[in-house]
Amino acid sequence: MPSTRDSENSGKATKRTNAPAASELPLRPPLKWAGGKRWLAPIIRPYWQPHRHRRFVEPFCGGLAVTLGLRPQFALLNDANPHLINFYEWLKKPFPVTIETRNDEAVYYTHRDRFNKLIKNGKRRSREAAQLFYYLNRTCFNGLCRFNQSGEFNVPFGTYAANLRYAGDFDRYRAVFSSWEFANLDFEELDIASDDFIYADPPYDVDFTAYSRGGFSWEDQKRAAEWLAAHPGPVILSNQATPRIKKLYKSLGFKLKFYDAPRRISCTGDRTAACEVLAVKGL
Ligand SMILES: C[S@@+](CC[C@H](N)C(=O)[O-])C[C@H]1O[C@@H](n2cnc3c(N)ncnc32)[C@H](O)[C@@H]1O
Repeated sequence: MPSTRDSENSGKATKRTNAPAASELPLRPPLKWAGGKRWLAPIIRPYWQPHRHRRFVEPFCGGLAVTLGLRPQFALLNDANPHLINFYEWLKKPFPVTIETRNDEAVYYTHRDRFNKLIKNGKRRSREAAQLFYYLNRTCFNGLCRFNQSGEFNVPFGTYAANLRYAGDFDRYRAVFSSWEFANLDFEELDIASDDFIYADPPYDVDFTAYSRGGFSWEDQKRAAEWLAAHPGPVILSNQATPRIKKLYKSLGFKLKFYDAPRRISCTGDRTAACEVLAVKGL
């Protein structure tokens, strides 16, 4: 039996078996995103598998780690961060990166100024803004996404190795993203169908929740919990297992499971593990 390399060199057409279809190849999240839940995808998969025919809804989709881990056929993916959703919308089209991508402080601050200028001039949905957002996300400190009171992106330059790699295009994502719907709304405004499968990963119940302007207060946590509890279809929620989060979801009839979260990005550089709760309903 020739090896794959031998077959390639022989020039003969060899039928390969067991090769995964393109639609099944793993796709890493294209951005770094605070609170990314790639590690939760294998834990959520057994809940999702029997419901694969349903639409998968992530009302707080962030870096898409779980959605890309599960690869649903139909999905509604929402986030309050407009730049994130603009970037994903562009990935549905051919999206070569044409701006200079170099891990260099001067280039970084020039790109950051240009990005803020585009926002100020009402061009935040442009292809250029999406490219700059990608570059800033990879190059800035800890992949954070933070804006000042005037709505300007103000994360400083990161401290990564000089040979940081950047994608030249995002062709691998196009087919997958094209069949998914994206939205940039507050979660409660989403048009949800009663049989949708919801996986919700709101900002953690901690003081630092500066993913987008406005933050996420305890009132928002309660609003999210009540909104999820009212959904007639299956729901999985993940959050930090603080005493009040556990109490809130228990009081709304969710089943709770606990997991040790791996290291994660944090604003202060504190990278200690946290205890994560999964609150499950209708599964
Ligand atoms: C913990 S992150 C989600 C991370 C994601 N599960 C992942 O694996 O990358 C929470 C997300 O909620 C978004 N968010 C905050 N407030 C929101 C709101 N009111 N409605 C919708 N999304 C919101 C933030 O922009 C952030 O991307």
